[in-house]
Amino acid sequence: MEAVKKLDAGFSELQAYESVAPGIERLAEVLEATAERLKDNYPYFHPLYAGQMLKPPHPVARLAYALAMWINPNNHALDGGRATSAMEKEAVVEIGGMFGWRNFLGHLCGGGTMANLEALWVAGQLHPGKKILASEQAHYTHGRITGVLQLPFETVPCDARGRMDAHTLAKRLERGDVGTVVATMGTTATGSVDPLPEVLALGEKHRFRVHADAAYGGYFALAANLEPDAARAFARIGEVDSIVIDPHKHGLQPYGCGCVLFRDPGAGRLYKHDSPYTYFSSAELHLGEISLECSRPGAAAAALWATQKLLPLKKGGEFARGLERGRNAALALFEKLLADARFMTALAPELDIVVFAPKAASVSEASALSRKIFEAAAKRDLHLAVAELPVRFWAANLEAMKLDRETLTCLRSVLMKPEHFDWVDRIWDLLTASAREVFGARN
Ligand SMILES: Cc1ncc(COP(=O)(O)O)c(C=O)c1O
Repeated sequence: MEAVKKLDAGFSELQAYESVAPGIERLAEVLEATAERLKDNYPYFHPLYAGQMLKPPHPVARLAYALAMWINPNNHALDGGRATSAMEKEAVVEIGGMFGWRNFLGHLCGGGTMANLEALWVAGQLHPGKKILASEQAHYTHGRITGVLQLPFETVPCDARGRMDAHTLAKRLERGDVGTVVATMGTTATGSVDPLPEVLALGEKHRFRVHADAAYGGYFALAANLEPDAARAFARIGEVDSIVIDPHKHGLQPYGCGCVLFRDPGAGRLYKHDSPYTYFSSAELHLGEISLECSRPGAAAAALWATQKLLPLKKGGEFARGLERGRNAALALFEKLLADARFMTALAPELDIVVFAPKAASVSEASALSRKIFEAAAKRDLHLAVAELPVRFWAANLEAMKLDRETLTCLRSVLMKPEHFDWVDRIWDLLTASAREVFGARN
């Protein structure tokens, strides 16, 4: 309330006016009805929600967003959102700084899909007619986006750790028709990190563009507890041509906050053909000049700016520690699964996602049991997710299992809230109780 008063005071010189909000007398009644409807949700904020990639926004982000809504600025242009455009530039400079970038081009957008669309739109213009490659575990929207952009697209198989197979990529590149390779820095299903050093080395040789889809994994550039391969990949992320990172995933923001960055600020000329492009460092840059979208919420910029003021994007800082705790939670759950003969695991978590499945006589039986455990856990208020993964990811642990399907339906848990670390034992108790119920019914 104090903040709202302060903001209002900034406009106190204006002539008094009567604000008209039709229906205001029924506000409380409708808000109550809204709350009633919103109860029909999974408890995404709670540590026992350990399923999909969902994380509650930080209180400062919610409040700064609501505060900015008092004005509802539009960051499509400086006169639509003067203060929030400046806040957006400052916040984006900090994000680029995480990857060692200083003079670059970047802005916020609706989310990871929009950000990848922009990055591939630029890539397609710089390498017309050439192929865009991404791993078979890359986010499904890359196929859609390249369809929309009418760019030729192909997937590259993954190794048993869910990472783009660098040998297959090297072979594929020999045809000489590839313009861009998308390296996923944390796949959606398993959190696998593509081998960026190898991709960059191939890029030197074959002269293609490298785009890092770090929508989910990007903030792990700050984490100190990655295993060596992932750490090596994140250490080189500043060498790619473009990066997508989603503040609305790991950056503690409400939905509607993605971010695209281009290492070469000259990419701006592709957005605006009929007027000179403006460098990111220019004080006069209208973000609408370097964004595919027109209207964009200034409130999202205010929320991100405030969050980064409170929790700077620094290695060893409080924000980084939160990411490290989520990853430690994933490692702790993985250790428990490894030690339990009822379950099998595929890859060790590279970030904070764990995938696992119950052992059974056949892949189809294990798949059916996964779904049953998912349901039994939900009844205990433990919310997991299910994923469909190629059987070869599990090859080392399948033992005598009959391979009657090409994919295995498994359980998946994204442990992205710092609180998850303190809740691993409780999650394990509920998971094993659910498994006992399901296995008991089987016998
Ligand atoms: C790696 C990756 N890229 C892109 C996306 C799409 O992002 P959004 O849902 O914000 O559009 C996701 C979403 O989970 C993702 O994990």
